[in-house]
Amino acid sequence: MSIGTPLSDSATRVMLLGAGELGKEVIIALQRLGVETIAVDRYDNAPGHQVAHRAHTIDMTDGAALRKLIETEKPQLVVPEIEAIATDALAEVERDGLAEVIPTARATQLTMNREGIRRLAAEELELPTSRYAFADSLNQLQMAIDGGVGYPCIVKPVMSSSGKGQTAIYGPDDVQRAWDYAMSGGRVSGTRVIVEEMIDFDYEITLLTVRALSADGEVETHFCAPIGHRQEQGDYVESWQPQPMSDTVLARAREIAQKVTDSLGGRGLFGVELFIKDNRVWFSEVSPRPHDTGMVTMASQWQSEFELHARAILGLPVDTTLREPAASAVIYGGLEASDIRFDNVAEALRVPGTDLRLFGKPESFVRRRMGVALARGETIEQARERARQVASRVTPGKD
Ligand SMILES: Nc1ncnc2c1ncn2[C@@H]1O[C@H](COP(=O)(O)OP(=O)(O)O)[C@@H](O)[C@H]1O
Ligand SMILES: [Mg+2]
Repeated sequence: MSIGTPLSDSATRVMLLGAGELGKEVIIALQRLGVETIAVDRYDNAPGHQVAHRAHTIDMTDGAALRKLIETEKPQLVVPEIEAIATDALAEVERDGLAEVIPTARATQLTMNREGIRRLAAEELELPTSRYAFADSLNQLQMAIDGGVGYPCIVKPVMSSSGKGQTAIYGPDDVQRAWDYAMSGGRVSGTRVIVEEMIDFDYEITLLTVRALSADGEVETHFCAPIGHRQEQGDYVESWQPQPMSDTVLARAREIAQKVTDSLGGRGLFGVELFIKDNRVWFSEVSPRPHDTGMVTMASQWQSEFELHARAILGLPVDTTLREPAASAVIYGGLEASDIRFDNVAEALRVPGTDLRLFGKPESFVRRRMGVALARGETIEQARERARQVASRVTPGKD
């Protein structure tokens, strides 16, 4: 494995499709290894645009535009950071040998749609999941609930992320509202939803799973310590690592993560989401890329999830060892405005053992993730408390 000189003919070039806060950190990790980086997003001055060698703004759901950009930039690796991409175009890029798609074009196709990954996990791999059904109309949704999914349940557009368009249903009175909300919250046009039995879990985890090359050039699977997290309205608000769990349950979780990542293939880091109750483990979903709840690894691990992803995709060895307990807490915009300010940063960082990432997003929304507080601690509780304190002290503002 060799790495060339950026901005020369020998460069090792990597293109990130999606340049949000996660892509930005992957780019920084690649930059440190002397890789030439190209950041692509749908709006100007995205976080990753600000740290890459070159930045492009295109509609990534436009297959022709995406292919043209790949042909012009000639990256060796194409690394999707988001789901809303013309994945069929990526499959052609892979087939035509233009670039390697991380982890594989098929993995990006299966995970961009909740139906693809759920059918793979539940029906082909026979992993335990919540009961589920798909529906294309309000009538079908009601029939799916009555026909087996039952109450309480959760409705999600099949093409959506970060809890968008997602509603919990507790009884027949909620069905119409959930359907209407799903129709307004999907990522791309289309009316299909998944309705899932609501699992009354004790806790949920993200198990970061890395497929990286061994000294023999074989893919080996490595696991990070489990990450616990808390979600509000389907969006993560805090995470911590390690999440305490019994050896038996952790072994079961790893087995599930191994099966699903083996099936998706390729190299890179995956975020496997699992629900746990007593000794039972359910597969929920998987991201074939760094996970938002995994931002905590910037404080907890020797190699963050971003460094692990960068190393794995380049064919370099990885080390998933935990360094110390840590936590992350999300900083939301809290207001709708461009070019906002963050006040009280010094006061926030006076909380001992803490750090901060401000993503540099040009536009703030009330519920948009604009930054994240990181904290280490002697215990998980201490780390969580510190991270929450930092997040609450940072104050978004606008004159
Ligand atoms: N079937 C379910 N049972 C219980 N909670 C769920 C279920 N599906 C989703 N959730 C909750 O909603 C969160 C977001 O759902 P998820 O399917 O991961 O959507 P997204 O792709 O937007 O992250 C989960 O992390 C979990 O807290
Ligand atoms: Mg999720």
